[in-house]
Amino acid sequence: MCAKKTPGKRKGKAKARAKARPNALWGGRFSAGPAAIMEKINASIDFDRKLAVQDITASVAHCEMLTRRGIISRKDGDIIVSGLAAIAKEIEHGDFMFKRELEDIHMNVESRLTELVGGVAGCLHTARSRNDQVATDFRLWVRDALDQVEDALTGLQAALIDRAEEHAATVMPGFTHLQTAQPVTFGHHMLAYVEMFGRDRGRVADARARLNESPLGAAALAGTSFPIDRRMTARALGFKRPMANSLDAVSDRDFALEFLSAAAISAVHLSRLADEIVLWCSDAFGFVRLSDGFSTGSSIMPQKRNPDAAELVRAKSGRVAAALAGLLSVLKGLPLAYSKDMQEDKQPVFEAADTWLLSVGAMTGMIRDMTVNAEAMKEAAGRGHATATDLADWLVRVLGMPFRRAHQVTGLLVKLADKKDCRLSELSLAAMQSAEPRMTANVFEVLEVEKSVTSRKSLGGTAPGNVRRAAAAARRTYL
Ligand code: ARG
Repeated sequence: MCAKKTPGKRKGKAKARAKARPNALWGGRFSAGPAAIMEKINASIDFDRKLAVQDITASVAHCEMLTRRGIISRKDGDIIVSGLAAIAKEIEHGDFMFKRELEDIHMNVESRLTELVGGVAGCLHTARSRNDQVATDFRLWVRDALDQVEDALTGLQAALIDRAEEHAATVMPGFTHLQTAQPVTFGHHMLAYVEMFGRDRGRVADARARLNESPLGAAALAGTSFPIDRRMTARALGFKRPMANSLDAVSDRDFALEFLSAAAISAVHLSRLADEIVLWCSDAFGFVRLSDGFSTGSSIMPQKRNPDAAELVRAKSGRVAAALAGLLSVLKGLPLAYSKDMQEDKQPVFEAADTWLLSVGAMTGMIRDMTVNAEAMKEAAGRGHATATDLADWLVRVLGMPFRRAHQVTGLLVKLADKKDCRLSELSLAAMQSAEPRMTANVFEVLEVEKSVTSRKSLGGTAPGNVRRAAAAARRTYL
């Protein structure tokens, strides 16, 4: 076919340009081939080769429809389908030669088909354009990626639920502003992320449902004069229905944006958990220890044990967010219908998909393998007057004090404890009564961190019994 070599080798040589022949698939009205630099900027094969499987699947569906509708003969259709099957094998075995001079995956496949079955290959493109072809292939690819992410997120939720059940009663400090706030259970903390990843899965499902319509048959932008059956190809490709409007079908990439926004939100969730793991692993916290499999050492400091995987998950969320911002900018202001700008839609999606899956996988491994130091957590929960709210609540419940007054009284006692450099529970009853004479020794009970968490039985609260029930419910809902 095309005689041109890769542009890099001939860069800057006018001779090369003169020799280039027009593209065999669309070059009928051209007398010269593309400049080397044109070929370089135009070609997408270096990245859209990822669509090879989807491209062949969609071509088979299109060909079978053309045959069924009598648009091409059964004989030609069979030849084309067996040629496509042979190409699928070549791709699977890594024997397929991707050529940059053939621009993109669609023309690489079609050109190889011509080599294998001859001129009849040219019938395949009847009633179709690369515009509806690429929109179809890409939707299929994103749909597969969503399905993989769905599985990966489910695996992560399973790991979190397991750890939540194991640590339903493990007390740790809960923070606001990263200041000790109230005791919570580690299981409750794990289940908070189960909810977040559950909503991420909801976004994945929504994106999948909206994406799942077929652009195939929209042709270049206006539909076609051939008597095609778009419902048939939609069905064959697992789409719910054909897209209603041919202009919309070839020109919108909102499915890619939805994929990226679901990815970006999920990556932010992952980064928050990753950041907590980094904190928890530090000497200052000492709440968890990552396994050897998810830690690295330092080349100079022999004692080091670094949470690199968590740091990288935290950082990679930036790439995913950038992919979304990038594609939004590419698509903004594009007139209908197809513009070549849209070829730039793939790399951000490919990169975000890889990053998302990698991050979920690494996070699942870290969660499954990490060792939880319940003593360190409990010890930390006892610091920072974490049960001050329990004391205020006791004043309300037992003495009938208005909460604001109870808050004030407790504040005085916190100040006193700070002055004496002790915990609230270490104050004497006399000291307590100096702030509120009606105070009794019973108050000391609520100052224990276990009592505090056990008392938080309200719906969605941190009490161990709640956590056990919530974990069981999450197992039913999500796994
Ligand atoms: N490689 C192109 C893309 O990714 C395929 C569609 C090309 N269509 C066209 N009219 N040039 O968008």
